[in-house]
Amino acid sequence: MTNPFYNKNVVSIRDFTRNDLEYLFRVADNINLNSLTDALRNKILGLVFFEPSTRTRLSFEAAMHSLGGTCIGLSESSSSSTEKGENLNDTLVTMNQYVDALVLRHHKDGVARFASEICTKPVINAGSGTEEHPTQAMLDLYTIFKEFDTIDNLNIGIFGDLKYGRTVYSLLYGLSNYNPTVYLISPDLLQLRSDALSDIKENLSVEQHSSLSDVISKLDVIYTTRIQKERFPDLQEYERVKGSYRIDEALLENAKDDLIILHPMPRSEEIPTSLDTTKYAKYFKQIQYGKLIRSALLYLIFTEHPES
Ligand code: CP
Repeated sequence: MTNPFYNKNVVSIRDFTRNDLEYLFRVADNINLNSLTDALRNKILGLVFFEPSTRTRLSFEAAMHSLGGTCIGLSESSSSSTEKGENLNDTLVTMNQYVDALVLRHHKDGVARFASEICTKPVINAGSGTEEHPTQAMLDLYTIFKEFDTIDNLNIGIFGDLKYGRTVYSLLYGLSNYNPTVYLISPDLLQLRSDALSDIKENLSVEQHSSLSDVISKLDVIYTTRIQKERFPDLQEYERVKGSYRIDEALLENAKDDLIILHPMPRSEEIPTSLDTTKYAKYFKQIQYGKLIRSALLYLIFTEHPES
């Protein structure tokens, strides 16, 4: 199969097929980072993060370093000429001159697509507003694959802030390539946005619920998210839902033995730390897969004919 990622933008998970995703997963499975320490020598990755990040940024940096490449970056608008009034277009066009690919996180919807249109180098969306976070979905899907050997026919609960959580949208679009049953579980105020819901229902079997306890016994996967406080247009709305959902030990008494709990992180109150040592907790493994998937992705973006 031709490398579907070579020199490509990664703006939306919807730009990739099931075959593309499984190609990435196979490369991640087989990549020998010890023999590829020079694979991306002389390649420079530009990191443009206009919103905070721990995992996404660090895993891209770690991946690039392990493949012999380097990173340059802006971490906050206050540390760049944006602070002096430079527009986003000029910042991106400048970065585009200095690097071989860009990783971009921005609080506004549409910015990743805009960047891909004005930059000549591949643009990787590391989170755009409330829209999408495609590389997170790649590692989320990969984690499910590694745990169950399949995604088809699983019962997958997505629990929490479904309205503003961009990782949820990318995950749902990614899951649309497969055949699971998806349970969307959230307080009423945090339900999935209706335009996306109709789109998603065209390709995916979806049930909506307001209580996790109603469906816990059916689930193979619980994917939960924190309340995205920073995306609420009205803080009073946030106050109404703050602390309104949580997974706890009592709830898990009715869970399947091989249930896994995933979270893109950072977490807030929805997963108490007391669950970290339970057999269900796979969110730290998910973080580990973040570097692996992003290493495989960078390798494929820069390498037309990969070794593995
Ligand atoms: N999952 C995720 O996007 O985490 P960070 O915000 O820490 O990058």
